Amino acid sequence: MNQKHTFFITCAPGIEPVLHREARELKLPKAERQVGGVFFKGTMKDAWRANMEMRTAVRVLRRLERFEAPDDKQLYKNVRRVDWSKFLSADGTFFVDAQCKESALDHTQYVAQRVKDGVVDGFRAATGRRPKVAKEGADLRIHVHIWRDRCILSVDTSGDSLHKRGWRQYQGRAPLAETLAAAVVMLSGWNKQAPLVDFFCGSGTLLIEAAMMAANIPPGGWRKFGFENWADHNADAYRRFKEQRITQVRKAGKLRFQGRDLNVEHVAGAEINAEAAGVEDWINFERGNAFNYEAKAGWNGFMISNMPYGVRVGDPVEIEAMHHQFGAQLRRDCHGYRASLLTGDRRLAHALGFEKWDQISLQNGSIQCKLVNAEL
Ligand SMILES: C[S@@+](CC[C@H](N)C(=O)[O-])C[C@H]1O[C@@H](n2cnc3c(N)ncnc32)[C@H](O)[C@@H]1O
Repeated sequence: MNQKHTFFITCAPGIEPVLHREARELKLPKAERQVGGVFFKGTMKDAWRANMEMRTAVRVLRRLERFEAPDDKQLYKNVRRVDWSKFLSADGTFFVDAQCKESALDHTQYVAQRVKDGVVDGFRAATGRRPKVAKEGADLRIHVHIWRDRCILSVDTSGDSLHKRGWRQYQGRAPLAETLAAAVVMLSGWNKQAPLVDFFCGSGTLLIEAAMMAANIPPGGWRKFGFENWADHNADAYRRFKEQRITQVRKAGKLRFQGRDLNVEHVAGAEINAEAAGVEDWINFERGNAFNYEAKAGWNGFMISNMPYGVRVGDPVEIEAMHHQFGAQLRRDCHGYRASLLTGDRRLAHALGFEKWDQISLQNGSIQCKLVNAEL
């Protein structure tokens, strides 16, 4: 339990500064920002905390080995050397994720295959049985990263991607990943105290993630992690750790969260999601048009929204006109508010017509987008 390991926490492109801030707030030892994530050196207990608490993390990988892998023989030999029975049983399932860059071994599928062979052959030699490969719901995910012929072999402590908190019952249309929604809330500068409004709330992701922050609900509180399957996992200590963490959840106070969407199905779905997340007492969802909003004087609230954008959502000319109209409405009616709007590109960001604003480049799945932060 007290043994130290090197971990790499992955995140979506552009989120590294937010992830690093989270790692520092959590006091993860020796947290160091990198492209694509954050390193830290710590114990498995630190990895429990990272999985349980970090809202913008996608996976927490534990490094097992680092070695030269100029060819597949070296790769195979080093994979065979690992005692995989610590992480997987001969009757279990596993999956290998491979990434290769600027290396002689440059075919990810082949690399994944050779790693799989090494794992399977090790089990077969020791037990006569072998674990099976499963893409979904595998007991163990193994990560292989080869860069300039150097290989890092890791096991995934998280299991399923951390955006799967366990609260999403309703998908809606084009929902934001929970991890990106959490990053948007953090990048908005919201202080967990000002009223929060989402006019285009869809399945409620932004408000639910924000309410979980205000309620101090750990994002990993409702789900299982990969490390829970490992042979040396201390299940009793982990149960105590989790129970103790859940006692720190706060009850809903006076803080106001308002969600609105034109689509009645989305509103009903958002309510179901909020209940599953344990924040139904924090948020009021209603069916309505973003353009009929009556801003409350002196509220000094925050508007955080994922605007409709992108070819899947509608006609580009109409979407630009909508941004123009919405920006004008906010400037006219919402003095003292701050807006954080996630939208498609520079053109749409400019169409909002704000005076004091900045933009941050993010990636929503495979789509490049901009987060516009403005003072109104
Ligand atoms: C990109 S989606 C938001 C997705 C949401 N962030 C989520 O995670 O589920 C945009 C939403 O805006 C809603 N919408 C479009 N025009 C609207 C309007 N004029 N007033 C209110 N909602 C609107 C759509 O129904 C859709 O749910």
